[in-house]
Amino acid sequence: MMNQKSLNHRRHDEGSLPQSMEYSPKPTKPWNNWLRPVDYLLREQRIVFVLVGMVLASVFFLWQPDFLSANHRASAHLHHQVVIDRAPILRSAQIAKIPLGLKRIPKRVVVTGGAGFVGSHLVDRLMERGDSVIVVDNFFTGRKENVMHHFGNPRFELLRHDVVEPILLEVDQIYHLACPASPVHYKFNPVKTIKTNVVGTLNMLGLAKRVGARFLLTSTSEVYGDPLEHPQKEEYWGNVNPIGVRSCYDEGKRTAETLTMDYHRGASVEVRIARIFNTYGPRMCIDDGRVVSNFVAQALRKEPMTVYGDGKQTRSFQYVSDLVEGLMRLMESEHVGPFNLGNPGEFTMLELAEVVKDTIDPKARIEFHKNTEDDPHMRKPDISKAKALLGWEPKVPLRDGLPLMVEDFQQRIFGDHSSASLGEDN
Ligand SMILES: NC(=O)c1ccc[n+]([C@@H]2O[C@H](COP(=O)([O-])OP(=O)(O)OC[C@H]3O[C@@H](n4cnc5c(N)ncnc54)[C@H](O)[C@@H]3O)[C@@H](O)[C@H]2O)c1
Repeated sequence: MMNQKSLNHRRHDEGSLPQSMEYSPKPTKPWNNWLRPVDYLLREQRIVFVLVGMVLASVFFLWQPDFLSANHRASAHLHHQVVIDRAPILRSAQIAKIPLGLKRIPKRVVVTGGAGFVGSHLVDRLMERGDSVIVVDNFFTGRKENVMHHFGNPRFELLRHDVVEPILLEVDQIYHLACPASPVHYKFNPVKTIKTNVVGTLNMLGLAKRVGARFLLTSTSEVYGDPLEHPQKEEYWGNVNPIGVRSCYDEGKRTAETLTMDYHRGASVEVRIARIFNTYGPRMCIDDGRVVSNFVAQALRKEPMTVYGDGKQTRSFQYVSDLVEGLMRLMESEHVGPFNLGNPGEFTMLELAEVVKDTIDPKARIEFHKNTEDDPHMRKPDISKAKALLGWEPKVPLRDGLPLMVEDFQQRIFGDHSSASLGEDN
């Protein structure tokens, strides 16, 4: 009863609003209202100042035609780096386009296996370029000595970590190299090798997905197995033994490629795949069972060079600086791959032994041993895809690259250059 009363009371109040608060429609604007800005512009020579400003700006841009495009490109580049570092770009071409006075924005890069042979050379190039580099390595085959020259540089970090365990790092790019590469090492613990290839690659792809980094896998020519096509093109699916002693590596890398493509298709991770063919150069493990390091170490120690089988199986040999250039071009390119990265110059084992003899010791002897299981007979990359799309091809011939490697091996085997200089007792 009380409530009804108060409601009636309120309705009564609304009905008796004072005259001043009653609704009145907005007065219509006079028809010539639009003339007011024109009038404003015409007063006090304002129009003259506007015109003078326009003339000055036109003269400036006529004299400096690059200014506008340079600024536009710089801001686009900044946006790309900070916000979406995932859009495909041809970085090498872009670097050339950066206007004078504007520096390339450094990247934060992880190199797994960066203390190893290829990884350490890649780290050198990235550091040289001004990037911040984190090396992740468990030192199974890698050595601190390979990257020690960067210690103390604030842009460099070295983490002892096994890629089989997950890791979280804020980075822009991931070069995933961690994996023993020579038969001696990958056969040492085959289960660990395949775990590194599968679980390690999964972990690094997971990281790439999480932080939006671009991911490059270093696969291998071994994915072609004992090839039935020669030379090998990227489209060739290979001829691989899934249960052999090399399978932990060959099939491990094939699975790593599969995972990489699945993360690309399924999770939109930006990926790159390089299929690396035999590479040689300074910092290779001595006595790692790879043919070039074996021959060089044996010839330097005056031991016979071991040739497996009849020595007629062929390989191509790429100098490490060529490979690193290819990897960096691939990472900066807009292409996923896979790309063969190798030197198409083909040598039989016997021909290689001859080059080593010519470089180190013409009296060096060759000893024939029984061939290992699943050793491929022929390996030669077809690099036309990398040539066409990355503008890449190897530059260093075997006869130029080998002496550089020999010098490094000599120093590591004998301690210094003087103890056994090249061709001392030729
Ligand atoms: N060198 C070649 O001729 C060649 C050919 C084909 C493919 N590749 C590939 O290139 C990459 C580098 O090869 P490389 O010749 O420098 O070999 P490498 O053995 O010198 O380097 C491999 C590096 O990975 C590290 N590593 C291994 N397992 C790891 C793990 N579980 N966690 C963290 N780090 C680990 C090692 O300690 C080492 O530093 C490898 O993935 C290899 O398969 C190399």
